[in-house]
Amino acid sequence: MKIGFGCDHAAIDLKNEMIDYMVQKGYECIDYGTNYDETGEIIKCDYPDKGRQVGEAVVSGEVDYGVIICGTGIGISMAANKVPGVRAAVCSEPYSARLTKQHNNANIIAFGARVVGSELAKMILDEFFNAEFEGGRHQRRVDMISDIEKKYNK
Ligand code: RB5
Repeated sequence: MKIGFGCDHAAIDLKNEMIDYMVQKGYECIDYGTNYDETGEIIKCDYPDKGRQVGEAVVSGEVDYGVIICGTGIGISMAANKVPGVRAAVCSEPYSARLTKQHNNANIIAFGARVVGSELAKMILDEFFNAEFEGGRHQRRVDMISDIEKKYNK
């Protein structure tokens, strides 16, 4: 499975720690930045660009899932959710992470680097990637979300 990671300047260290963690678990991880430059300076970026970039990578099939991080996880997930086909969920605890895969078929998980510590973030990642979409009645509701997109994307 291929996972795309993206973050803004508020979340580089957490993003890199998550990539290391997931690589150790055998996942293929693609880093969409941002990062530090060769002098150690943060390469500044705006969270809407990273949300869109990872969102487009997921929807095009370049990666299977996305992990996006900004200060709160909110701005970057709002941006990603504007890409038709993205279902990005901000999670600060494992229960929501499991349920958003099982019920909402979320294809992106978002974090706030200023909200969750790295050990909690790893637990949340485990819960999300170990869960499966349950389909059935949940598929109908996920289809209803797609219908809203279609209504406004003509
Ligand atoms: C950047 O300072 C901050 O606004 C951003 O990381 C994020 O929290 C926005 O939602």
